[in-house]
Amino acid sequence: MKKILVTGGLGFIGSHTVVELQKSGFDVVIIDDLSNSKIEVLDSITEITGIKPEFQKLDLREKTEVQNFFSKHKVDGVIHFAAFKAVGESVQKPLEYYENNIGSLVYLLQEMRNHNIDNLIFSSSCTVYGQANSLPITENAPTKPAESPYGNTKQIGEEIIKESCKAYNMNAIALRYFNPIGAHDSIKIGELPIGVPQNLIPYVTQTAAGIREELSVFGDDYDTPDGTAIRDYIHVVDLAKAHIAGLNRLLQNKNSKGFEYYNVGTGIGTSVLEIIKTFEKCSGEKLNYKIVGRREGDITSAYASTSNANDELNWKAEKSLEEALLSAWKWQQKRKQE
Ligand code: WQD
Repeated sequence: MKKILVTGGLGFIGSHTVVELQKSGFDVVIIDDLSNSKIEVLDSITEITGIKPEFQKLDLREKTEVQNFFSKHKVDGVIHFAAFKAVGESVQKPLEYYENNIGSLVYLLQEMRNHNIDNLIFSSSCTVYGQANSLPITENAPTKPAESPYGNTKQIGEEIIKESCKAYNMNAIALRYFNPIGAHDSIKIGELPIGVPQNLIPYVTQTAAGIREELSVFGDDYDTPDGTAIRDYIHVVDLAKAHIAGLNRLLQNKNSKGFEYYNVGTGIGTSVLEIIKTFEKCSGEKLNYKIVGRREGDITSAYASTSNANDELNWKAEKSLEEALLSAWKWQQKRKQE
């Protein structure tokens, strides 16, 4: 049984990926520093799959801790989620973001190299494209100067991995996520935003649950059909499955180059107002919202060309926007009861 290290494996996307790894027959060990996740997620994963993943609380910024981990664990591949990911916060605390997101990656790569582990799946983001010149966004679209230190750490991270693959004969796939939303069908794992949600969907569900007074729609003067910004919202379970597809490509030596990258989205663009209407339809809840000014740094429109992932990874998003929004709502309702 192949053993896979999942860093940040108790987080939103990480936990859903651990479930899919276990369902696909992989043995999983999780590293998480619990800075943006809860230890209870480990039990929730175990309830879903019946298999308790190995877990070690570890801060990847501690080089000796990383070295000790790899001297104790023999793994066949790594899926690297662990990173700070709040765009706005990264503008306030750039050095923390560079130290954590870049420093941890370098220590991880050094230990992978020292232990001849050469299969890496890296959590990247469509943020690397900025506002693309044409839509849907293909992988050939040029990356643009990042709008935030967070986005910059994803661009720099990809560059570090590309150069490491070249120099040390490693193999890696970067998955450029569009907008992950929703929760596992079991409603035992989902998004756990800390404090006031920065992202749209948790803010929508918290407004519907009466936790937030009103949703602010950041701008309705964009050059889009209804004036609100467009994104590609992908169910987190579909996104998790893309990681298994990428990992299998590497483990079966099907990758044509050392470093590859793929868009992971649905290929469908949805505006903020369309999200609100769809949520109201599938939840039966009336959403209280108001239009306010644009949020700084937001782009007008982003949705993925997914043909490369479809063809090369043999992966395609299967769940609908309605399914994703309903799962997010059910997850919110369950959390409100806790
Ligand atoms: C979506 C749309 C907002 C909140 C970010 C990161 C990206 C990735 C996903 C990590 C935008 C609008 C939002 C609200 C609103 N994160 N909105 N009211 O900004 O597309 O992407 O999260 O990998 O890297 O950049 O996602 O959910 O914040 O916003 O109107 O209260 O909803 O303006 O148009 P975003 P988001």
